[in-house]
Parts: sequence; C-alpha cells; structure tokens
Amino acid sequence: MFGGCYSGFADRKLYIKNKIEIITKYIPRKYQQIPKEENFLCGIIGYIGKEKRALPVLLSGLKKLEYRGYDSAGIAVFGEDKDFLVKSVGQIVNLEKKVEHLDSGNLGIGHTRWATHGVPDEKNSHPHRSGSITLVHNGILENYMELKQKLIADGVSFESDTDSEVGAALLDYLYYKTGDMMKAIMEFKKMVKGSYAIAFILKGLEDRIFVIKNLSPLVIGFGIDECYVASDIHAILDKTKKYVTLEDGEFAIVKSEGIELYDYDGEHREHEIKEYDGAFADSDKGEFEHFMLKEIYDEPEVIKTILMKYVTDQGYVNLPDLSNYKNITIVACGSAWHAGLVGKYLFEKNLHIPVTVELASEFKYKSSFLNEGDLVIAISQSGETADTLAAIKIASSLGAHTLGIVNVKESSIAREVDEVIYTLAGSEIAVATTKAYLAQSTILFLMSVKDKLEKDEYKQMVKVPLVIEKMINERAVYKELADVIYEHDDVFFIGRLIDYAICLEGSLKLKEISYIHSEAYAAGELKHGTISLIREGTPVISVITDEKIRDKTISNIKEVKSRGAFVILIVSERCNVIGDFYDKKVIIPKEMVGLEAIISSIPLQLIAYEVARLRNCSIDKPRNLAKSVTVE
Ligand code: AGP
Repeated sequence: MFGGCYSGFADRKLYIKNKIEIITKYIPRKYQQIPKEENFLCGIIGYIGKEKRALPVLLSGLKKLEYRGYDSAGIAVFGEDKDFLVKSVGQIVNLEKKVEHLDSGNLGIGHTRWATHGVPDEKNSHPHRSGSITLVHNGILENYMELKQKLIADGVSFESDTDSEVGAALLDYLYYKTGDMMKAIMEFKKMVKGSYAIAFILKGLEDRIFVIKNLSPLVIGFGIDECYVASDIHAILDKTKKYVTLEDGEFAIVKSEGIELYDYDGEHREHEIKEYDGAFADSDKGEFEHFMLKEIYDEPEVIKTILMKYVTDQGYVNLPDLSNYKNITIVACGSAWHAGLVGKYLFEKNLHIPVTVELASEFKYKSSFLNEGDLVIAISQSGETADTLAAIKIASSLGAHTLGIVNVKESSIAREVDEVIYTLAGSEIAVATTKAYLAQSTILFLMSVKDKLEKDEYKQMVKVPLVIEKMINERAVYKELADVIYEHDDVFFIGRLIDYAICLEGSLKLKEISYIHSEAYAAGELKHGTISLIREGTPVISVITDEKIRDKTISNIKEVKSRGAFVILIVSERCNVIGDFYDKKVIIPKEMVGLEAIISSIPLQLIAYEVARLRNCSIDKPRNLAKSVTVE
C-alpha cells in the first residue's frame, strides 16, 4: 500500500532492500508487487519567476523526465487570477491536452509518477492538495500509515491511497498548528521517517516554492528573475546551467530572486552555485535506464557546445579551411565511417572537392594514390581504433596532411595527426555511439560551409538544439515504431546519397544493439537482387531529406510497398511528401539549415534503442562488441 515514488539513484539499492523488507513486514506476499528497480523513478519540476510561464516550463521539464518511466502526471499552477491543478493518467501528451486552453501563472509544480502501490489513477497522481498545501513528492514516507491514523483522528480526510497525500496533510496540519511554515517544516522532518524530495506551494504565499530533501535527489536551478526545482539537472538544462544540489535534511524557500537555504537544524546554509559543464555527469548515467539513452538526451547540449566553440555570433566558422585541397580522403571505421560518408556528400556538394571515404581496415592494404600534401581526415570517437591509427600513420608516411576529428582528448589518433578537431561530445560510455556520431557529422557539416553561415542560416542553426530536444521527447512515437519492428528477423533501410549514409548508420545502430539482421541499401540498388527478400510485413525504413532525389526514392519505396513491406518514412518537412505509399512517417522540421539528413539519424537511434529495449538486450554493452577496437 506504499504509494508515491522513489527516485534517489544513489540510494536505490538501499531503498529497494528497505522497501522489500517493509513490504514483507506489512503486506501478505501474495499481494506483494515487488517493483523492478528500474521502475523506481519519478520526476519533480517546479518554477517560480516574474514571467507568467510556469505552465510551459513544467510541461517541458516533465517531458525531459519521461525517460524515468511513469504512468501518470500532473501539474499545479498559481497565477494572479486563477489557479489550476490538473492530473492525467498515461503519457504527458494527455496532460498537455487538458491544459492547452489554460493560461499560465508564474508559480507551479509538476510531477511524473510511477505507481508502486495505489493504482495509477488520477486520485493517486500528484500534485496532492490538502488544505492550503499543494505538494509533489518522490520517495516513501515509511510511517505514513501511523501519521494518517493520527490525522484522521484529528478530522483530516483523504482522497488517495498514497503516502504523499499524508505528507501534504501533515504539513497543512502543522502549519495550521504553528502558524509558521519554518516551524511546520522542522516538525515535519522530526515526525516523518523515510526518503523524500518534496516541493510544495501555498495559497496565500504565491511568491515561493518550499522544498524539503531527504534521500531523494533535488536540485534548484537559477535563471534571471526566476528559479527552478527539479529531480535532476537534465530537466532544466535548457533553461539554466546554474544550480545547487540539496543535501539530506536541508530545506529551502525558493523565490524568483533566489533561495533561502536551511540545514537540518534550521540554521542558514549557503551552497556554492555550480555550473553544469556536462563533464562530471557523463560517466554517470544518473537516473537514465541506459547510458545510450542518456547520451541521446545529451545531444542538444552537444550541438550547443559545438556551436559555442566553433561558430561566432556572426556565423563565422572557426574550423580548418579545406577549399585549397584538390581531393580529400577520409579514413574511419563503423559509425565514424558512416559520418565520413556524410562528410563526403557535404564536401562534394558544397565545396566541390572530390572525396574518397575509405574503411581504415582496407586502406592499410590497398594501393594508395595519395600525393604529397593531399588531405587525409581520420574520424574516431575513441581516438584509439587500431585500424584508423594505422591508416593515418600510412597517410603521414606518404606525405599527406593529416587531420583528426576525434572525441577523446589526447588519444593516440589525436596525438598522431598534424591537426585535430575535438568533437566535444563529452565521454560516451555506451558501446553504440550516438552523440559522438552526431557531433562528428555536425563538425563535417560546419567544415562544408564556405567560411560563414548567412544570418538566417545562423538563426536556424542556434535553434537546432531545441528542435532536437523536441524530437527526442516524442518517445511514444519511437516506441510505437519499435513495436512494429522488434519481432522481425530482417529490417531494411533505403535512401539515396546522403540519406543512404544515414541509412547505413541507422542499420548499424539497430543490429548492434538489438541483434536483428539489418541492411542498408542505396535505394536504387535494392531492385538488383535484395528486393527478393522483401515479404509481407518486412519492415523497410526509408530516409528522404533531399528534395532532388525525393521522387526517385519514393518510386523505390513503392517497389517494396507493392511487395508487402511495412514502410517507415523518415522525411524532411521540406520535401512535402504526401501519399499512401508509406505506413508510418516521422517528419524532420524544415528550418534545419541543411542539417536535415544529420538530424534524421536521431529518430533512427531512438527506434533502435526502443527495439533493443523490447527485446531485453544488453543495450549499453552489446555482445561481442567493445567501445574501442584497439586491435587490428
Ligand atoms: C558504433 O556504434 C560502433 N560502436 C562502432 O562502429 C564504432 O563507431 C567504430 O568501432 C569506430 O570507433 P571510433 O569512432 O572510436 O574509431
């Protein structure tokens, strides 16, 4: 009967153990639904500011917390004229539909709940209101039944089965008794046993959020004339990088101009405001189920970092100028090789320089026609791939100028090449590369720009992180597509030119983490043999982002469709594709400044992730694979 949620990553092991003990003590085994560890994640989000924008901030924050798993959600917003408290079961989109006509206020809290006990229905969802208190909670109030009995004896009534509502009622009761919220909180902390991250707001004190933290994580973010509260920094990173992490026993009064922080004994306390640099968190998946998912969620931040580092506010690109080279050779392996193909299409289209993309493992043994001063680019996330390192040494010995596009600083390849560009994706733990591949492709795109982005291109470019974030948050879409795919033995990808390069990467992502056989084909090539493998229901994923070849690829899609394929189309809005020749469609927004193809790799990453998840695969560490192949 323990309601509420658990979210403390660090305490999870302890919590599960305790929880199992608690359940064993109070609930007959036949009713025990021992939740799986990874299900114990809920999310808190809160906003207080001068602007009336609590509603969009709460919805955006809840979406960023979706990865934690949930089955219901709710928000409460206070404004000058009206307040509202809305809850919904199921996806956040259901909540969005309920609030779309409501005005925003400048104060609000939100919550995603994963029901552990107490069915996932609206009455058990958060926020919970009791008297003047509106509250969201993560964790478990272990002595809530005892507290509930006392409160009922004092005339308090309850709607839900949750411990969280007892928390709200107790705070309201103590506030009424003491007339002082600080005293009420101090008393609350003495009376309650268990883990909790609580945020609550008070009718009559609409200029603040109260937060209390014990064993479940809680951060406070700082904006300009506004502050945020969240279960983890990822929920508010698009709003601010400045934050403090509350420690156990602490509580705070959060106002738009800042916070008053108190320690367990109610003494004033200061915390140094940290700046999220994306580094320290990389080696910790935080509350994500897998590193791969966390690293996909990192992608908007990675693009922002690349733009800040390599593009000036005027749009000038601070990367090596390739225009003087007569030809370019790219050497790489795996996904890095796929990124090299993206570079080929971009360099040849925008710089009109012929590009050869070589598998490093082949390059070493084949006849080479490199001349003194030719450019050879090595692309490598790890900077330690033996084949790529060997290839770059051969290129150097032939007098080529070598350039590395590398993620790991001071790695062997980074130290071997004549000049190196770092992709700044942060450490990538999952064997299947996502954010590093995206970073490689983005760097190649920027290198294909002749010296600067035009004004409108630059304006589009700085919006790209937000567009990516919106796409990533549409997880229900990818789960639905994964449902179609995950039981099949063969999946095909088809595309032309740069879209073919994207298909190669999408196919590799799928097979390396889900173990489903998959192949990518230049769309025009399928009919020269492989189309014989297309049967009724065979999933075929097609990518179209280039209007020039749109109709050609559509005719190839119709060829497989007429043979029974289930077609999933990843298509740029700019291509204006309509018709019934596909079964499902994912749109890539048009204002993408030529990045449409690169961005189309993100839905493919998420589809692969959801398929592997449905197949219960070892997503971060697929069988037989290593993160860095340091043997030839
Ligand atoms: C990508 O998901 C794979 N893990 C693999 O193909 C990888 O891209 C390849 O081994 C190259 O690694 P590198 O980028 O570290 O050189």
